[in-house]
Amino acid sequence: MFVSAAVVITLMCSCSFRPIFGQDCPSRQEIQGSLKQVQKLLSAHEASYMQSLRNLKKKINLLQSNAGKQLTKAINNTCTKLDAPINGRKLGKSHSVSHEVHFLCDPGYELVGSESRVCQESLTWSGQQPTCRDINECASSPCLNGGTCVDEVNQFSCVCAKGWAGATCQSPLPTFFVTMTNTSAATTAAAGAAAAAASTLPAATTGPFVRPSRCTIVQGTTHCTCEPGYTISGRDTNTCTDIDECELFHNGQAGKLCLHTCVNTPGGYRCSCPVGYNVTRDGRSCKDIDECATRQNNCTKDQMCINTYGGFQCVRVDCPKIPSATYVKTSPMRCERNPCPVDNKACSQAPNSFSYHYLAVVSNLSAPRVMFRVSALRPMGDTLRFSLLGGRQARRHFTVQRSDRLTGQLMLVSPVQGPATLEAEVEMSELEKRVQLGRYITKITMFVSQYEF
Ligand SMILES: *[C@@H]1O[C@H](CO)[C@@H](O)[C@H](O)[C@H]1NC(C)=O
Ligand SMILES: *[C@@H]1O[C@H](CO)[C@@H](O)[C@H](O)[C@H]1NC(C)=O
Ligand SMILES: *[C@@H]1O[C@H](CO)[C@@H](O)[C@H](O)[C@H]1NC(C)=O
Ligand SMILES: *[C@@H]1O[C@H](CO)[C@@H](O)[C@H](O)[C@H]1NC(C)=O
Ligand SMILES: *[C@@H]1O[C@H](CO)[C@@H](O)[C@H](O)[C@H]1NC(C)=O
Repeated sequence: MFVSAAVVITLMCSCSFRPIFGQDCPSRQEIQGSLKQVQKLLSAHEASYMQSLRNLKKKINLLQSNAGKQLTKAINNTCTKLDAPINGRKLGKSHSVSHEVHFLCDPGYELVGSESRVCQESLTWSGQQPTCRDINECASSPCLNGGTCVDEVNQFSCVCAKGWAGATCQSPLPTFFVTMTNTSAATTAAAGAAAAAASTLPAATTGPFVRPSRCTIVQGTTHCTCEPGYTISGRDTNTCTDIDECELFHNGQAGKLCLHTCVNTPGGYRCSCPVGYNVTRDGRSCKDIDECATRQNNCTKDQMCINTYGGFQCVRVDCPKIPSATYVKTSPMRCERNPCPVDNKACSQAPNSFSYHYLAVVSNLSAPRVMFRVSALRPMGDTLRFSLLGGRQARRHFTVQRSDRLTGQLMLVSPVQGPATLEAEVEMSELEKRVQLGRYITKITMFVSQYEF
């Protein structure tokens, strides 16, 4: 509107100059007519302009009063204070309605939750309170060649597998540094010096547990390395001493090296086992040697060889000799009573059978546990009874329980420290209307080894 008025005025002016420079200017009447029109136009513009101004004023007043209201509102309309997350920061101090706060995490942490939160009309914050989570630098498996990654704040470290080194286990560990570099003169000199040093060491410190180091000079600094299993100890970089792996891993960091005994060797170690055991294929554990299977036993023909943990036992089953009855061996492990003469009550009350069983167990076996079960195959009476015979020793370690209608079980009630041999007798008796029909004795011998394996 203002623009178009300005254009009209310009036209007017340029026309007023025309009579001076040109010949075909409009007549006076024409000019007066035009001027009247322009005047009309201007007053119309003026009116509309004034109207616009009034409208504008109104709007400004409205805005001012609104702003004032909001100001008074804001005093009390605040959301609860927000805390910065642990290991992070909060940007923005205002907690008033429609204000925003932002959250940032320290380096090495990543934000979980809302990055920004707005104080809403309801006086609650939008979104959720964020936390800063330690970035798992190990997630990308940065350790090479079988290294183990250890996540730390803002970084990681690698525990390298044997034979590898470097921040990400990227470099093979030089076993013979010299052969990998060719710095001819310097190398030979250093190696020669090392050899000389080794040969002049006192007798007590020489031998297979001490080796010369291999040194080389790279860019003016001397690097000395040892063969695997050796390390430079103390200030003398010329000698390498054996690492005592048995001592190093004594208390079982990295797992106990050996099940039984660790033996340090030059540059390494080996595990050894007690007599009667062989080292297992993995070199760490011990397995029992079955002397009975390998003829490493001296049991005679009339004996039975019982393999035990760490050894063997030669046993001979002899049927019991009691005055009232006679027994005959019906199998290598069983004796049965011969038929009794009619009316010989003592004979008929003697046990019908004796069975023999041998168990080999390790020392300190956890208890309680079932060691043996006795069952009636063809019960004849209406009642079966199971009981433990034997002296005080048997009662200290064992008890007998019924496990079902036809079965009784011998339980070990306390761990036994070996080496030891324990015996227990389980009696099963059959009754019919409280009259004893038969007694069956099972003798159990338990060979407890010296070791827990
Ligand atoms: C604002 O809140 C304070 C206490 O939080 C109260 O004392 C004061 O009267 C309130 N002002 C208004 C305008 O509501
Ligand atoms: C070492 O360098 C010498 C010359 O400086 C060279 O004759 C020799 O072959 C090199 N040896 C190896 C193993 O590279
Ligand atoms: C146990 O080891 C010895 C010697 O290492 C070996 O002669 C023997 O055959 C091994 N015995 C068994 C049962 O593996
Ligand atoms: C078997 O040999 C051991 C020694 O290795 C000996 O003590 C034992 O008496 C021998 N047993 C027999 C039945 O010869
Ligand atoms: C027996 O075993 C228990 C756990 O099974 C163990 O705590 C205890 O030290 C062992 N005792 C011996 C003498 O090894």
